[in-house]
Amino acid sequence: MTPPAKRPPQISASILNADFAQLGSEVRRATEGGVDSIHLDVMDGHFVPNISLGPVVVEAVRADSTLPFHSHLMISEPLRYVEAFANAGSDLIVFHIEAHGDPHELVERIHRAGCSAGLALNPETAGETAHPYMDEIDLLLVMTVRPGFGGQEFLVEVLPKLRALRAEAERRNLDLPIGVDGGVKEDTIGAAYGSGGDVMVVGSGLYRGPGDLRPIVDELREAAHSGAGSAIDQAAARS
Ligand code: DX5
Ligand code: ZN
Repeated sequence: MTPPAKRPPQISASILNADFAQLGSEVRRATEGGVDSIHLDVMDGHFVPNISLGPVVVEAVRADSTLPFHSHLMISEPLRYVEAFANAGSDLIVFHIEAHGDPHELVERIHRAGCSAGLALNPETAGETAHPYMDEIDLLLVMTVRPGFGGQEFLVEVLPKLRALRAEAERRNLDLPIGVDGGVKEDTIGAAYGSGGDVMVVGSGLYRGPGDLRPIVDELREAAHSGAGSAIDQAAARS
């Protein structure tokens, strides 16, 4: 069997670094800039030290884009909030394997709520922990920063895990998109894409200032193709 073809890089706009005073227009700006999805970082001050936004905010900006909404739940009890985020207009709900609850049950509840299901792994969590769920999820999200804050530095030491998860998906002939979240920008996106990522979550690397985001999105897509072999990737290979 031939493995599934490599997807073109998808850019997912994390609004964490956008201007929260005008979130609706920031979502429109990313949409008009040509991103592929909107990534909404939900933090509860418990699973992660920071607090960000809840379902009312997702619902409030839903009308500002027709793109898929990915709600990334960095919360301790994701099961309690599945329906709320589904009803708010999420297309994909991502929960963390390190949070409370049975991942099989979470995936089932998310699917029953009419959404796609994503599973996220913190940088220090072994890739193998995702193996039992890879057949049922719709996205695997590999964190390349410790979750909680935007603008952190990309952790190159996560790249071998990303490669191993891509290899595992290929071994099983799964058409599973893998997301990379944290510190993805022009100088790291090549390594993330070249190591097997498909969905590039970009926050501070996208919302760098005012104005049209199209040139930045185009640059990011182009930089993704610089692929494995970039300086950062070579550093990770040595680590
Ligand atoms: C981290 C979040 C990320 C991140 C993206 O906790 O899940 O989505 O903030 O922002 P940058 O690209 O600035 O790391
Ligand atoms: Zn995120």
